[in-house]
Amino acid sequence: MKRLGLLGCGAIGTTIARAIDSGIIEAELSHVYDSAPEASQRLAGSLRAPPAIAPNAHMLSSYNVDIIVEAASQDAVRDYALSVIQNRRDLVVMSAGALLDESVFEVLSEACSEFGRSIYVPSGAIAGIDALRSVAGEIESITLTTTKHPDSLRGAPGAVDLPDAGSAVIFEGNAHDAVAKFPRNVNVAALVSLGTVGAARTLVRIVADTAATTNSHTIEAHGAFGRILTKVDNVWDPANPKTSRLAALSAINLLQRLCSKTGTIRLGV
Ligand SMILES: NC(=O)c1ccc[n+]([C@@H]2O[C@H](COP(=O)([O-])OP(=O)(O)OC[C@H]3O[C@@H](n4cnc5c(N)ncnc54)[C@H](O)[C@@H]3O)[C@@H](O)[C@H]2O)c1
Repeated sequence: MKRLGLLGCGAIGTTIARAIDSGIIEAELSHVYDSAPEASQRLAGSLRAPPAIAPNAHMLSSYNVDIIVEAASQDAVRDYALSVIQNRRDLVVMSAGALLDESVFEVLSEACSEFGRSIYVPSGAIAGIDALRSVAGEIESITLTTTKHPDSLRGAPGAVDLPDAGSAVIFEGNAHDAVAKFPRNVNVAALVSLGTVGAARTLVRIVADTAATTNSHTIEAHGAFGRILTKVDNVWDPANPKTSRLAALSAINLLQRLCSKTGTIRLGV
């Protein structure tokens, strides 16, 4: 059975840990770490098989674990991803926006190659990324429109003109600028651009709508292949309305596949 370490014990980390604890993911949650000690203690204390709490993030990958799951922040990816790979562990990244920094992407790609490990990025809170990657070479234009309640966007560096009532387009630009201005809100912009046309050519529109009851993501891509149009109306994670429940479910689905025994039929990755 694979042994997992968890970096980040918030909304997504908790959902993943519970899925391991209840056997939905056939793995052992060996160690956890969160920069907020109460978050790791609360999570570890709530599980039937409590994991050990690592004393710091670097230590997490020094134990006998197979996969580290990052569900913390873009900073955590920038600060710790390299040491995970250097410690010869695979890594699952939720804060995908960090990978749009070309220097981060390059350093991690080279480390994966040198140490023979992999970084996995779940499909997150969007649908259709498999098809978009399949047609990547033929995409002429691709647009992501994200609609959220202003409360889910508040606090982001780019959230300056949030409407008090009604809806307003508060950002239009490329995926690079989107993840810089909304680092905790539009990791999906990184997911859409990675493996397709890149961040500079991915157009992102963010709409703040006081009537929004979901986090919705619409992707429209055109090219020689035809048109791909997908829309997901995501239920908020009860622990963090910035986060869509589908994001954690996509990580659980990926981990189920990574932790499944060999000699099975594999759907997707
Ligand atoms: N890929 C996707 O589709 C998608 C969707 C939603 C959220 N996300 C991203 O996933 C990450 C986790 O989301 P969440 O909703 O669980 O957030 P959350 O705020 O509920 O939990 C994050 C936890 O990580 C901890 N943390 C933050 N930075 C850390 C660091 N440097 N070292 C150690 N611990 C750290 C925090 O204390 C917190 O407990 C965020 O970066 C979020 O933007 C990705």
